[in-house]
Amino acid sequence: MNVPENLKAAAIQATTQAYSPYSKIKVGAALIDHDGNIFTGANIENASYGLTICAERVALANALMKWQDRSRPLFSKMVITNSTGTPMPPCGACRQMLLEMNENAEIFFETAGGWTSALAKDLLPGAFYMREDLAEENG
Ligand code: THU
Repeated sequence: MNVPENLKAAAIQATTQAYSPYSKIKVGAALIDHDGNIFTGANIENASYGLTICAERVALANALMKWQDRSRPLFSKMVITNSTGTPMPPCGACRQMLLEMNENAEIFFETAGGWTSALAKDLLPGAFYMREDLAEENG
């Protein structure tokens, strides 16, 4: 598995920026856009546990704030890692957001057998999409 080294290094660095006093797990994510810019994210927890934001969604939000050319997808690749030494595949909420920003993006993460990668669209079969016609009918 050819994990992009620059993204892996950035994701590892991002784990050090986590705010996770409750789980103590530090997750890091790094993505690259079509101009070669790298954006990172780390998990941000809250005493009201359900408000926790995953590393992947923080990275997407960081990139979204700088997204100039909206005719092109936000990003092409993301690497996710964590401090536990055990696999942590992206959660369902993150899969939904990754899919929206580029269904053909390649997502790299650790599994029991080592690193793997999958396209965003293959990580969430049968996903919810907002249909244009539905949005118009209700607008
Ligand atoms: N977490 C992520 O950052 N990404 C995921 O895809 C799964 C879970 C974080 C949230 C929480 O801070 C910690 O990992 C344990 O669930």
